Amino acid sequence: MLVNSETNQSIAYSNELLSDVTGKHKILDTASIVDGQSFIGITFELCERGLLLDVDGSSDLYSWSWLADVCGCTECNAAGGKQATRQVKDTSLIRLTPVKAAVTSTDITIVWAHHVSTIPLSLIVDAHNQALLQPVKFSSIYDSDEIPSFDFSEVMTLENALGEFLGAVDKYGAALTHNVGTDEDSYLKLVNRFGFIRETNYGKSFDVILDPTMTNLAFTDQALFVHTDNPYRDPVPTLQLLHCLVAGDQGGQSIIVDGFKVAQQLREEEPRYFDLLSTYPIRWQYCDQFADLEFQGKVIERDYQGDVIGVRFNERSRTPVILPGHIRNTYLDALAYFRDMLASPKWQICFKLEAGQLILFNNRRVLHGRTQYANSSHRHLKGAYADIDSLRSTLTRIASATKV
Ligand SMILES: [Fe+2]
Ligand SMILES: [Zn+2]
Repeated sequence: MLVNSETNQSIAYSNELLSDVTGKHKILDTASIVDGQSFIGITFELCERGLLLDVDGSSDLYSWSWLADVCGCTECNAAGGKQATRQVKDTSLIRLTPVKAAVTSTDITIVWAHHVSTIPLSLIVDAHNQALLQPVKFSSIYDSDEIPSFDFSEVMTLENALGEFLGAVDKYGAALTHNVGTDEDSYLKLVNRFGFIRETNYGKSFDVILDPTMTNLAFTDQALFVHTDNPYRDPVPTLQLLHCLVAGDQGGQSIIVDGFKVAQQLREEEPRYFDLLSTYPIRWQYCDQFADLEFQGKVIERDYQGDVIGVRFNERSRTPVILPGHIRNTYLDALAYFRDMLASPKWQICFKLEAGQLILFNNRRVLHGRTQYANSSHRHLKGAYADIDSLRSTLTRIASATKV
């Protein structure tokens, strides 16, 4: 017999439930019952502490606290189920125990003191599967022969063309549109199609042209080593676009590098260097008469599984490496090694961005640069920033609309 902490009274459970609280009470094996759902080989058991999944001989406990946390009832949710109103509860502190619970072939129903949870077993199975650590597999631009390119007017008018273009940016890190024309506000039309301009101290957009008054080397005719933009910002803009208005005649080739792929290669070739660059942050800085920006960030960012989720590299904005002595010198070796990899023709994709072409890329993944161009050239690119959250939101909405 269990005791309900809220009433301090013993609880009489239904027959289906914890009729035997001394051990795990096997309620149901749904494998032979549920059609077309991926419950084969999974046994659901209710026990004192919650719901126990037995998957191919290993068990995974979903506590009463976890089950209360995913409740979809109107007590626990507002705005038609789109905003959760419940607060997380610690099982050990509150002694969160149900009045009654039962498992059917499709759901678990739990009667609590103030509400009833009906949780689909599929939700729990999905949670179990998603929690398994699996390295992220990503597609690289190097897997295809060339950077994917899409017709601008189709992207601007057809939902499926927009979805394919944004999907390519999300998947490979970069995609082109062609037949954009040379209107100065085309970048804005494109960004408004899926999201919002990220305005910075450079304005809503910036012109990559020869401008001797600017303090940034981007506004000279010099070659630019591949880099990610604005590593000195928090947060860094996640998308960048460059629209070519005038290509210029001599030089000024564009270069892009898939930073995820190179970071992955670094991990295989020199794991110690990979660890250093993804463990210790260094300082990045930009300063002119309007802004004084500084951020401490890692060259390679990893998620909790160790997968690369971001690359930050910009020699023009990097400050001297300030790290403890036993790390400092090796760190510089690691940085130089990574820099040399980024310079390799093996990883650089070099192409001429022609007038009327626009490239959109993930600025946390893809590095960009250019070769030197002739001083007499009138090369003119229009640049702007946006963010990838709205790109992914638009992609998801297009995918959902296509399914209906
Ligand atoms: Fe740049
Ligand atoms: Zn609820």
